Amino acid sequence: MTENLLQISSLEKHYPAQGGKVVPVLRGLALTLRPGAFVALRGPSGCGKTTLLLCAGALLRPAAGTVLIDGCDPYALSAAARSAFRAAHVGFVFQNFHLVPYLSVLDNILLCGLAAAPQPALATRAIDMLDKLGLSHRLRHRPAELSTGEQQRVALVRALAGGANLILADEPTGNLDAANSRILLDTLADFASQGGAVLMVTHEPAASDRAFTRLDMRDGYLNSC
Ligand SMILES: Nc1ncnc2c1ncn2[C@@H]1O[C@H](COP(=O)(O)OP(=O)(O)O)[C@@H](O)[C@H]1O
Ligand SMILES: [Mg+2]
Repeated sequence: MTENLLQISSLEKHYPAQGGKVVPVLRGLALTLRPGAFVALRGPSGCGKTTLLLCAGALLRPAAGTVLIDGCDPYALSAAARSAFRAAHVGFVFQNFHLVPYLSVLDNILLCGLAAAPQPALATRAIDMLDKLGLSHRLRHRPAELSTGEQQRVALVRALAGGANLILADEPTGNLDAANSRILLDTLADFASQGGAVLMVTHEPAASDRAFTRLDMRDGYLNSC
């Protein structure tokens, strides 16, 4: 294992626009996350924060540059191998949770984690994490039966339970009240303190204050602040 959980260099990404033109979004961006990093990524809407997370998480192939997760370039893998690699190495937390509505809390977590870990170990870890986050009485409930705060805690367990050591979170506190935000941020901070790495997009001061460091995105680059 390398020391860097995420190492991005010279990353470029653009999207097609009308008239055969392209919109440049990432313009040679660099970012390194070591174990223990909890980084808040800020920047105006449309500046490319989600694009960066998708490229960093092996979900969106960059136009140029390299992404190394745990020392491995996921874009050099076949699509199937990349999916398996992603399941084992990266956990995603989204603003809108993206839970599967017809699956129970526990099955939502198992569905995602099974690609990364055998079921008995995964289920034990998931139940333990759900218990720590106050959800042990909710294992068999469907997402629609949960509050937004509870749904986001389930999504957080889903991201963590597979054993990934890199968490990418896109405005994870955007739909949460103050108490649930605190629970989520404390859990991310603990995860980083125990040797994981977190890259969290946020525009909320309480969330960026809780991160250990802050980066601002402007014009396709990152500036520390
Ligand atoms: N699939 C896409 N096709 C074309 N343009 C896109 C696509 N996804 C994002 N964009 C554009 O790229 C820019 C960056 O988007 P995004 O990464 O979502 O920004 P942010 O998360 O910072 O709001 C925006 O101008 C957006 O409209
Ligand atoms: Mg976004």
